[in-house]
Amino acid sequence: SLIQWFPGHMHSTRKAIAERLPEIDAVIELLDARLPGSSANPLLAELTAAKPKLKILNKQDLADPALTTLWLDHLRAQAQTQALALDAGEAAPAQKLIAACRALVPGRGGMVKPVRVMICGIPNVGKSTLINSLLGKRSAKTGDEPGITKTEQRLALASDFILFDTPGMLWPRLVVPEGGEHLAASGGIGRNAYDDVEVALALLARVRPRYADRLAARYKLADLAADSDEGLLSAVGRQRGGLLPGGRVNMQKAAEMAIHDFRSGAWGRITLETPDEFGQWRAAAEAA
Ligand code: G4P
Repeated sequence: SLIQWFPGHMHSTRKAIAERLPEIDAVIELLDARLPGSSANPLLAELTAAKPKLKILNKQDLADPALTTLWLDHLRAQAQTQALALDAGEAAPAQKLIAACRALVPGRGGMVKPVRVMICGIPNVGKSTLINSLLGKRSAKTGDEPGITKTEQRLALASDFILFDTPGMLWPRLVVPEGGEHLAASGGIGRNAYDDVEVALALLARVRPRYADRLAARYKLADLAADSDEGLLSAVGRQRGGLLPGGRVNMQKAAEMAIHDFRSGAWGRITLETPDEFGQWRAAAEAA
C-alpha cells in the first residue's frame, strides 16, 4: 500500500473533534481543488453528518477551472452544504468565507449567538496559509513536510463570528486506491510513505488522457500516444537532464521532476479527478 497509517493520531483527533462539536454551528472542510474527492476525510464526514458544512476548494489557482466548476456544483447539491473555490494566499478571503458560513446558519449571529465554525483539512491542504490570510498575515513557514503540528487557534473573524482550528491532526484516509496516488502526487502525504517512481507513473497515466497537449508541450514530445507511461517518464528525465553516465535515464530523478512539475503548476492548471470518476472509483471499492 502506498500510504502509512496513523491510527493513534486518528483516534485522538476523532475524540477531540467529537468533544468540540456540540459548541460548533458549522464545519469548514478544506479540500484540494486538484483532488477534491481524495483530499476529503471520511472520518470528518461521519462525525459532522448532522452539521451544516462549507467545502472550500483550495489551491484553485493550480486546478482546472472547468472541473472546479463541476465539483462546486456537485458539492452544492449535497444536503446543508455550501461550496466555494479559493486561493488561500489571496488577500481577503474572509468576507466570502464569512458570508458562506452565515448563509448556512441563519439562526445564528449577533453578540448573543455568535456563529461558531470549525475549520478542518488534511495536512498540506492550505489551512495555515488560509488562517494567516484571514489574520491578515503573510504566510509563515511551517515546515516542509505535511503534518507539522501547529498550535490550536481560536480566531474572531467578526465580533459575532468565531473560527476554531481543528483540535488535532486530520490525517488523510484512503477510500479508493486512486486517492493514495493523488495525495502522494500533490504532496498530501509524507515523502517516506510512497515510492516516487510508482507515484509519477500513476500521475502521468492519470493526466495524459485529459491533458496530453500540456505534457507534449512541456517535454517537447511529438507523439505522446506512442509512448507507454514508462516511456513518458523516460522522456521527462531526458528532457529535464535526469541522465546517468552513459546516457541512461535516472528514473528516480525523472519521477521527482515529474512530480515537482505537476505540483508547481508547470503543466498548467490540472485536476486529477472529476466527481463522476471519483464516484465510480468509490462504487468499485465498495463492491470489492
Ligand atoms: P496546512 O496548514 O494545511 O498543512 O498547509 P499550508 O498552509 O502549510 O500549505 C501547504 C502548502 O500549500 C504551502 O506550500 C502553501 O504555500 C501552499 N498553498 C496553500 N494554499 C495554496 C493555494 O491556494 N494555492 C497555492 N498555489 N498554494 C497554496 P509549501 O510548498 O509547503 O511552502 P511555500 O511554497 O509556501 O514555501
